[in-house]
Amino acid sequence: MLKHKGTLPITTNRLILRRFTMDDCREAYEKWTSSYDSRFWQPPHKSIGETRRMISEYVANYSKPDWYMWAVVFDNELVGLVCGNEINEDIKSICIGYCLSRSFWNRGIATEACAALIRYFFDIGFNRVFSYHNPLNPASGRVMQKCGMTYEGRIRGGSMFAGEICDCLQYSILRSDLL
Ligand SMILES: CC(C)(COP(=O)(O)OP(=O)(O)OC[C@H]1O[C@@H](n2cnc3c(N)ncnc32)[C@H](O)[C@@H]1OP(=O)(O)O)[C@@H](O)C(=O)NCCC(=O)NCCS
Repeated sequence: MLKHKGTLPITTNRLILRRFTMDDCREAYEKWTSSYDSRFWQPPHKSIGETRRMISEYVANYSKPDWYMWAVVFDNELVGLVCGNEINEDIKSICIGYCLSRSFWNRGIATEACAALIRYFFDIGFNRVFSYHNPLNPASGRVMQKCGMTYEGRIRGGSMFAGEICDCLQYSILRSDLL
């Protein structure tokens, strides 16, 4: 039985992972939601209204015990998000996702946040943490590798990019991999 905790604050060496608030909308829009660089995460927002709607949904969902969505704060600055979704209660599995502002790429931030989430989810009782990425987005796969996840294969037609069904490359880590 999973003992869901929802989105509680997490602190790592360099990061604070916390809940989003509506005060984050402008910064999120300027830093990543409107950016073409975030296209492998979501279609870029054309107006701040789209970001407001997205974050208000995040905020409303914090009342659910199985809603896992964190704002990533680095050096007192909001730099992106990490999350867990696609939960399967029967096999105790969860998928991790992440998106950061371009100016903060390649500093190990996604890896540090993702590693913390893996620990958080195993503490809750998950047995399997997985993630997948578009083959055209190898940096995302590198994050999965650096977090100790194992490559499982190419899932044909397993994802969606720019409105088209596409293949994705999938990784996972099991609780037993840490023993
Ligand atoms: C994917 C993403 C979260 C990575 O964040 P990050 O904080 O830069 O990640 P890290 O710094 O922890 O690690 C990135 C790794 O990818 C590598 N990398 C960067 N660009 C790469 C490329 N084009 N090809 C291969 N590896 C690449 C980096 O060198 C680094 O590996 P290293 O430490 O071995 O050198 C960030 O690029 C992002 O937000 N992209 C847009 C949203 C997105 O794609 N989300 C994932 C959807 S599946």
